[in-house]
Amino acid sequence: MEFREVVRRRRMVRHYQPEPLPPDVLERILAVALRAPSAGNAQGQHLVVVTDPAMRRRIAELAGESEHVARGLDPWLSRAPVHLVLCCREEDYRQRYREADKLRSAARAMAGPVPYWYLDAGCTLMLILLAAIDEGLAAGFLGGHRLGGVEGLLGIPPEVQVLGVVTLGNPGRVRRTRSEARGARPAAEVVHRGRWNPRPSG
Ligand SMILES: Cc1cc2nc3c(=O)[nH]c(=O)nc-3n(C[C@H](O)[C@H](O)[C@H](O)COP(=O)(O)O)c2cc1C
Repeated sequence: MEFREVVRRRRMVRHYQPEPLPPDVLERILAVALRAPSAGNAQGQHLVVVTDPAMRRRIAELAGESEHVARGLDPWLSRAPVHLVLCCREEDYRQRYREADKLRSAARAMAGPVPYWYLDAGCTLMLILLAAIDEGLAAGFLGGHRLGGVEGLLGIPPEVQVLGVVTLGNPGRVRRTRSEARGARPAAEVVHRGRWNPRPSG
C-alpha cells in the first residue's frame, strides 16, 4: 500500500474479529517495529507479545473491560487476537550512555528535556500502528494508565515500565469516540512556521 494511504487509513480501532492472525503477518509487523529509531541506538523498547486467549482475557479484565461492556461499549482487549504490550527499560539507555563513544554526551542526554526512552517507545508504537494498516489489519492503543497489575501477570521485571498495549487484528465494528469526534485541529494552530508566533507582516 502506498505510504500516504497507510497514513490516511490509520485510526484507533477498539473492536476486532477474534480470529487469530497468521504467524507470518505478526512476524512482519514485529520486524517493522524493530526498525524504530532510538537515542544512541540504545534500543530500550520492549514488546511482550500475547496471543493466548486466557491471558488476553486477564489483561482485558485488568483494563476493566467488563465494566466498559456493561456501559454499552464493545469488548476490546479480550477479542483482539494479538496484544503487544509496549514497554521501555531506562537501564538500557544508562548502559548505552556509559559506553566509550557516548560518555561525552551522556550527562546532557540523560538530563534532556524528556527521557528519550519514552520518545523511542512512541516511535515503536507508530511503526506498529502503520505496519498493521499495511497488512490490511487494524490496531488500537490502550494507555498504560488503564493496565495496573499487568507487570505481575506477564512477569515484567520492576525496572521495566509498561506504557500500554497495542491491539492487532481484523477490524470489527468501528465507532468514533468522543476524543476522535474532536477532529483534526487546523494545521495553523499546531504548525508554527519560522517561529511560534509569526510576526505580523508589513
Ligand atoms: C499515548 C496514547 C494513549 C492512548 N490511550 C488510549 C486509551 O487508553 N484508550 C483509548 O480508547 N484510546 C487511547 N488512545 C487513542 C486516542 O484516543 C486516539 O489516538 C485519538 O482519539 C485520535 O484518534 P485516531 O488515532 O483514531 O486518529 C491513546 C492514544 C495515544 C497516542
